[in-house]
Amino acid sequence: MTPHEGKVAIVTGASKGIGAGIALRLAADGAAVVVNYARAAGDAEEVVRRITEAGGRAVAVQADLARPEQVAPLVDAALRHFGRLDILVNNAGIYGFGRLDDVTPEAFDAHFHVNVRGPLLATQAAARVLPAGGVVVNISSGVAKSPSGLTHVYSSTKGALDVLTRSLAIELGPRGIRVVGVAPGFVETEGNAHLVDDFAPPLVARTPLGRTGRPADIAAVVAFAVSQDAAWLTGTTIDAAGGLVF
Ligand SMILES: NC(=O)c1ccc[n+]([C@@H]2O[C@H](COP(=O)([O-])OP(=O)(O)OC[C@H]3O[C@@H](n4cnc5c(N)ncnc54)[C@H](OP(=O)(O)O)[C@@H]3O)[C@@H](O)[C@H]2O)c1
Repeated sequence: MTPHEGKVAIVTGASKGIGAGIALRLAADGAAVVVNYARAAGDAEEVVRRITEAGGRAVAVQADLARPEQVAPLVDAALRHFGRLDILVNNAGIYGFGRLDDVTPEAFDAHFHVNVRGPLLATQAAARVLPAGGVVVNISSGVAKSPSGLTHVYSSTKGALDVLTRSLAIELGPRGIRVVGVAPGFVETEGNAHLVDDFAPPLVARTPLGRTGRPADIAAVVAFAVSQDAAWLTGTTIDAAGGLVF
């Protein structure tokens, strides 16, 4: 029997990148997966196709996490399609870089809406139906703890998310629901493909394990975080960066 047989997971932002890797891994581990996306329906359907062709269960569900009214329907969709919810992975996120002069109120709001308010409202909706043993995973980033002068806003969103990981764990712990963060280093994805040539070499040079991360690396840590082996883990964020400190 696979470790998550009978479990149901929502992975936000699972049409590509790290989220797609997490969806594929949780499905391979036996969970039925809601593959959330904002715009890329075709990419999400491709992830669903890969899961179902491998014998798993998945459905693509559109919901823009920046729009509060679209968040609770995502949880409703999990219940409608699969009858329950056990795992929420708050992965959807955006990252724009720039110096202090480049910061705009619009960019600030866009980042906080997707990266902080989205996970908070998704957890609020999920917590109404998660059973004891349920798990919420927040995908943070190494730049929360070691920001750069190019990531004022993005780093702030992930710092806020790490605080939510702690505070939500405190509220939900008595119900047997765990909240765990996973903080990747540099992972090559569709979202940062245009940055790889400039950013990857200096980061790899500072990475003890000597390469960039892959979505499957992060998915493996998420698979651990939601497993019974992590039953004593909550309110903490696990670094998954090959030893890189930004
Ligand atoms: N890549 C890295 O090096 C790295 C490092 C540390 C942390 N992270 C974090 O890991 C997560 C995933 O990053 P990634 O590089 O895999 O991103 P990515 O390749 O850009 O993919 C982003 C995913 O999030 C979805 N998304 C974006 N805005 C959304 C919204 N408003 N509502 C719902 N879904 C939305 C996208 O959906 P559509 O395709 O439909 O637009 C897509 O599925 C983010 O939280 C990011 O901050 C990434």
